[in-house]
Amino acid sequence: MRLTKKVMALALASCMAMSLAACGGGGSSTPTTAAPAPTEAATTAAPAGDDATDAETTATEAAGAVEGKDPSEIKVGISIYQFADNFMTLYREELKKYLVEEIGVKEENISIMDGKNDQGEQMNQIRNFITQGYDVMIINLVQASSEPTVTEECNAAGIPVVYINREPETEREQAWVDEGIKATYVGADARQSGTFQGEEIAELENKGDADGDGVVRYIMVQGDPENVDAQYRTEKSIEALTAAGVEVEELVKMRGDWDQTKGQEITANALSQHGAKIDVVFCNNDAMALGALQAIEAAGRTVNKDIYLVGVDALVEAVEHVTNDKMTGTVFNDYFGQAHTAADKAIDFVNGKEVDNVYMVDYVKVTKENAAEILELIK
Ligand code: GAL
Repeated sequence: MRLTKKVMALALASCMAMSLAACGGGGSSTPTTAAPAPTEAATTAAPAGDDATDAETTATEAAGAVEGKDPSEIKVGISIYQFADNFMTLYREELKKYLVEEIGVKEENISIMDGKNDQGEQMNQIRNFITQGYDVMIINLVQASSEPTVTEECNAAGIPVVYINREPETEREQAWVDEGIKATYVGADARQSGTFQGEEIAELENKGDADGDGVVRYIMVQGDPENVDAQYRTEKSIEALTAAGVEVEELVKMRGDWDQTKGQEITANALSQHGAKIDVVFCNNDAMALGALQAIEAAGRTVNKDIYLVGVDALVEAVEHVTNDKMTGTVFNDYFGQAHTAADKAIDFVNGKEVDNVYMVDYVKVTKENAAEILELIK
C-alpha cells in the first residue's frame, strides 16, 4: 500500500522547484487562502486548515483503511462530468488504477460513468448506483449547484459521497459537518492556480509587457463560468499581476468551456481584432492554451518573444511546450494527489473512519526552470 515512486519523486521535484523554506514549512492550502508555495504537493492532501500529513502517513492511512471491510467487496460508483475532458481523463485513469492496484478494489466492482456534461444524465447514474447498492460514490458533478440534491439522495440511502474537481458551496461543506452527513470534497484551491499563473507572468523580466508600452494587455480564455476553477483562475491571475505593480488592460474575456477548439477560436478572433496589442494570453486550462497556441502560430506571433501564454493542468503536451518556448508556463493540477486522496477517503467512509469535509491538494508552478523535471515525472 505505498505511493508510487513517481509520485514521491514529484513531491521532491516540486520542493526543489520552490524555496527550501516553503517546502519545510509544513503549511497547506485552505479553501479560503491561496498558499504562496506548494508543500508536499504531489503526495498528500491536507484537511483544510490543518497541517499537511506526510507521505508515509497517507500511505499508512490507505493501508489502515482496508482493515475494515475487505476492499475486494467494496463497490465504488464513479461519475465524471464528461469523459471528453482531457484533464479529467488523466484523473479518472489514475483513480481507477489506484483503487485497483493500491487499495485492492476489484475492477468489476468499480463503475465509472460518463456524465456527458448533462446533469440529468448524471443524476440517473447516481440513482442507479443507489438502487444497485454501491458502498460509496466518487462524484465529479456536472453542475456544482446540484450537490444538495445529490447529497440528500445519497444520505437518505446511507451512501457516503466524495465530491471531486468541482467544488460545492463552502456553506454546504459546512452543512455536511453540522448535520453529520457523510460527504467530503477533494480538490485543489483554484485561487492558488490563478495566483501562480499571474506570478509566472510577473516574474518575467519585462513582467509580460511584450511590446514595452507600459501596459500589459491580455485576453482571458475562461473555462465554464459556473465553475469556481474558472472564476478564481480568472480573478487571481490578474490580481497577482497587479499586485506586482503591473498596469493591465483586459481586451477580451470569453468562455471556452475547457475546450481546445474553443480556445483556438477565441484566440484567433482576438488576434485578428487586437493584433500586436495583445501581450499575454491567459487560459484557464492547458487544453484551451494548446488551442490558443495554434492561433498564435497561425497569426505569425512567437511565444516568449512577442506574446506570452499560460495555462493550468500540466498536460504532457503543454509541459513539453514550456520546455521549448511555445508556452510561457503552466500550473500542475495534481491529479495523482487528488485521485489518491479521493480514493482513500472513499474507503475511509466505508470503514467508518473519520473523514474531514474538505481536502485540498497543492498546485505546482511549472516554468522553463522546472518543466523538464516535471515532464520526466508525469510522462
Ligand atoms: C479543472 C481543470 C480543467 C477541467 C475542469 C473540469 O480543474 O483544470 O482542465 O478539467 O477542471 O471541471
